[in-house]
Amino acid sequence: MLVRRLPFLLPGAVALVLGLDAGLQLLDVPAVPVSTRLPDVHGMLLVLGFVGTLVAVERAVALRRRPGHIAPALLGAGGLLVVPPTTARLGQSLLVAGSVALALVHVALWKRRRDDAVVVQALGAVLAAGAALLWLGSVPVPRLLPWLVGFVVLTIAGERLELARIDLARDEPVLLAGVGLALSTPATLLWPAVGQPVFGLVLLGLVGWLATHDVARRTVRSTGLPRFAAACLLAGYAWLTVAAGVLVLAGPVLDGPAYDALVHTVFLGFTMSMVMAHAPVILPAVLRVPLPYRSALYGPAALLQVSLLVRVAGGDARGWEPALRIGGALNVGAVLGLVGVLIWSAVSGRGRRGVSDRDDEPVPATGPPLPPRSTAPLEVVR
Ligand code: HEM
Repeated sequence: MLVRRLPFLLPGAVALVLGLDAGLQLLDVPAVPVSTRLPDVHGMLLVLGFVGTLVAVERAVALRRRPGHIAPALLGAGGLLVVPPTTARLGQSLLVAGSVALALVHVALWKRRRDDAVVVQALGAVLAAGAALLWLGSVPVPRLLPWLVGFVVLTIAGERLELARIDLARDEPVLLAGVGLALSTPATLLWPAVGQPVFGLVLLGLVGWLATHDVARRTVRSTGLPRFAAACLLAGYAWLTVAAGVLVLAGPVLDGPAYDALVHTVFLGFTMSMVMAHAPVILPAVLRVPLPYRSALYGPAALLQVSLLVRVAGGDARGWEPALRIGGALNVGAVLGLVGVLIWSAVSGRGRRGVSDRDDEPVPATGPPLPPRSTAPLEVVR
């Protein structure tokens, strides 16, 4: 299984490494000189090339049909092809095709189970397709940023509903906020002065609901993996609240320190915290590799929170350049640290139980097996 699924994840992993290298270049911190074009594609490489591929692989596993793998293949290839100038247009086109394919995977999942959580994720994929299409049409990334924000936020909100569902009646506020966020996204492009604060307000409502209803508030008082995941989730919600506040209060944010703060509270504070929370549970189900929980995971998770605080509070808010650089470099250390701990956990956990032998019946390392018709690859820690 590892051999079958790794090729779909590998381009995403390469996009992550290249994207982090680009981040260091953008901060004028010593970096590996892979390509001078990397800083121009840093954002798209990480959001669609890395996060998009990761999400698409997980959704393909949930679909359990071969065509589901078209989306991660296109997003992975597209992410890498945007780097060389000669293949950039092709790469951009593949990102559009991959995002559309991801939306179609959600349609197929929805046909199987009429679930609001899938609709929310589908809206996210539509925003990803919009972002990729606008980028292909030469719209600058700062102007299309809300489309990328909507993609990750709705994807993760839908996943939370799916994985940590409390009761069905409570799906409605998330669905409503999801539709609101998707509808307000074009307004951020057409009328930024009004659109961005409205988008921020809807985001504030969504994150407020998620943070108050997520089981993480309860499981943070447990132990082991449930506690670790809950701590990351709550930190992620806190960062997303800051991002929504910036959108509401700062008006159109297209450059400068507020832009850096907005971008990285969403993509590092929220998104990477969520990746950290879910990786020890989702990766074993996707790759069929046992990944026993290690308390060492707290190392990169804590480093991410502290370094982002240094970057945003010291660098962006106070304009202290070294804090921006040191915080940014330590952000990279936190993400690489996570990869390191996960690899160590996988290697040292070989031979341990925790995943099923069967492709179609994932068994989580923690928590009960899935209900039979869920589209989620596994039940997340409760
Ligand atoms: C881990 C270390 C990271 C560093 C050091 C870093 C650094 C930077 C810098 C310096 C900028 C330019 C900000 C500005 O123009 O004011 C930037 C932009 C951006 N970053 Fe990051 N970043 C990191 C991680 C990430 C991650 C993980 C994501 C997404 C998952 C991401 C997404 C973006 C996006 C979307 C932009 C906007 C790009 C644009 O306007 O063209 N970054 N980053």
